[in-house]
Amino acid sequence: MASVSEPAYWRQRYQEGQTGWDLGRVPPALSYAVEKSLFPPPPASLVVPGCGFGHDVLFLAKQGYQVWAIDFASEPLNFLAIQAEKHGLKNRIRTIQADIFKFFPPAEVEGVWEYTCYCAIEPQRRAAYWQQVARWLNPGGLFVGLLFPLSGAPSEGPPFLVVREEAILLAQQVGLSLVMEEPNPPSHPARAGREILWVLRQT
Ligand SMILES: C[S@@+](CC[C@H](N)C(=O)[O-])C[C@H]1O[C@@H](n2cnc3c(N)ncnc32)[C@H](O)[C@@H]1O
Repeated sequence: MASVSEPAYWRQRYQEGQTGWDLGRVPPALSYAVEKSLFPPPPASLVVPGCGFGHDVLFLAKQGYQVWAIDFASEPLNFLAIQAEKHGLKNRIRTIQADIFKFFPPAEVEGVWEYTCYCAIEPQRRAAYWQQVARWLNPGGLFVGLLFPLSGAPSEGPPFLVVREEAILLAQQVGLSLVMEEPNPPSHPARAGREILWVLRQT
């Protein structure tokens, strides 16, 4: 079996319909983050790493954002591209089939939206994940992330358990500082109490 660091692992999951992580809708905390204006204002450009089927990407594009939707599995990106066309959002969504560790937008972006990509990568790559986020963001740029799962992860991920203090430390080491933390954000019922909403600013 391929490792979670390889597209083959995820492509097989999509091909077999083993996509239990997919909520089929926008997570409540994302609507909340937009309502509370936690993101830079539209038409800012955002990176969404490991976007999967991209419900979040469509939602953000509908708010007026320019979105770089990144995933290394082609299956969900093909779905997202069709949805983008159907909703007249092709001009706001770039679907990029790439490894997030090798992706660089042509210019720095104003924001990043993270949901269930961080828990999908191997824990030993987490420092590299934060380094990428820091590289994508312009000075003052914002990382808005819903970190999951804070508990209840299987001993062998994915999803890999998120440890709050470790994540903060790694983010700080690359110049990202915590500006807002919501320990009990609105959640999907199956994930309530296991998510934390963060805004980090690039210095
Ligand atoms: C658990 S799924 C989450 C998908 C989506 N964020 C959601 O909430 O439904 C993780 C996604 O990240 C993608 N992924 C994992 N590692 C990646 C990497 N290194 N580069 C690009 N995509 C990656 C997988 O292909 C998969 O679509």
